[in-house]
Amino acid sequence: MTRTMMSTFKAADMTGDRLEGGGKPVACGNKSTGCNDPRSDQFCAMSARECGLIDRSKQMLCEPPQGPVVMLIVLQPIQVGRERMMMECGNMSDHLPSRDGLDVIKTGKGVGAEVREIELRTLDDEQFADLRQAWLDNLVLLVRDQSLADADLIAFSRRFGDLDLAPIQESGRRFVEGLPELYIVSNVLEGGVPIGSLGNGEAVWHTDMSYVEVPPQASALYALEVPPTGGNTSFIDMYDVYDTLPDALKVRIAGRRVKHDGTYNSGGFLRQGVTPSDDPRESPGSLHPLVYTHPETGRPALYLGRRRNAYIDGLDLADSEALLDELWSHVDGDRFGWSHEWRKGDLVLWDNRCTMHRRDAFDPAARRVLHRTQIKGTGRPA
Ligand code: OGA
Ligand code: MN
Repeated sequence: MTRTMMSTFKAADMTGDRLEGGGKPVACGNKSTGCNDPRSDQFCAMSARECGLIDRSKQMLCEPPQGPVVMLIVLQPIQVGRERMMMECGNMSDHLPSRDGLDVIKTGKGVGAEVREIELRTLDDEQFADLRQAWLDNLVLLVRDQSLADADLIAFSRRFGDLDLAPIQESGRRFVEGLPELYIVSNVLEGGVPIGSLGNGEAVWHTDMSYVEVPPQASALYALEVPPTGGNTSFIDMYDVYDTLPDALKVRIAGRRVKHDGTYNSGGFLRQGVTPSDDPRESPGSLHPLVYTHPETGRPALYLGRRRNAYIDGLDLADSEALLDELWSHVDGDRFGWSHEWRKGDLVLWDNRCTMHRRDAFDPAARRVLHRTQIKGTGRPA
């Protein structure tokens, strides 16, 4: 079902080509109108108006001054107005350096932003604090053109907190020698044995490692080798999914817990050491609240983990299945998500508490190698 939905889920307008060339593009990502055209700076009011995000008085603040005298008088209001408008147009993007100096460009797809012109190996503390805030605000960050050795990826990830050890690879290999934090996502075989996990098929919507009691707060995935096409990774904003549920459904799930299954990974592979079971009441996993209040933003997110072997605690199996199907029908990547086309050197960092992700299949003959770290959560989801 989600597969069909995702087949039309095209890549974001964030490849950058249209955003470069000296202008100061503005992309409005109003999901309800589907408006996401990057515009030059002078069109920012129009772009916002098209998106229905501001009224006429606020557009005036954003339009260019008409002459030198006016310019002198209104210079300050323009600045103020511009900032205010951008706050009101919460999902509008802008190519100006933000107050904090980072160059953050929203995808315009409801989740995610690219941070340009930074070098993750050498971020100073102030830049790091700004990056962290941009991550909380945008849920998923893309940083392109990085050159990270495994030790660099681990050191960068550690700035967010302690790391979880990687889950066991599908081959049964416990750890990468000397780097137990490193999880390898790859279809490459060496001596007939996969060097990593998830193969080349679709990986279904999921949250990383939510079958443990304290799932990671974040994952950082870095691309070393990518196929020319396919293997895109999509992200969905689970705050938005929750916010837009019908009120009656919110009432029905309030206070309920859901089993996050640990039997199968998102590629459908049985986890090593686990007895296969398709009875969600019996299978290994952890119970978490269906509505997870993000410990840092305070916002509620729908917390589903993954569909297979999920079970809503305390319900008959049939009722649990029906309620889960109803909830999953709101997981609409076209409406709430963004799909990323990888390039070598991309680092993507996601907030694992309020997003889910999935991956498209790709040509089995192509090589795809990504290295991941997972940053420990600070407590049980609540
Ligand atoms: C992951 C994951 C998808 C991908 O690393 O957690 O789900 O793009 N990866 O390979
Ligand atoms: Mn994953």
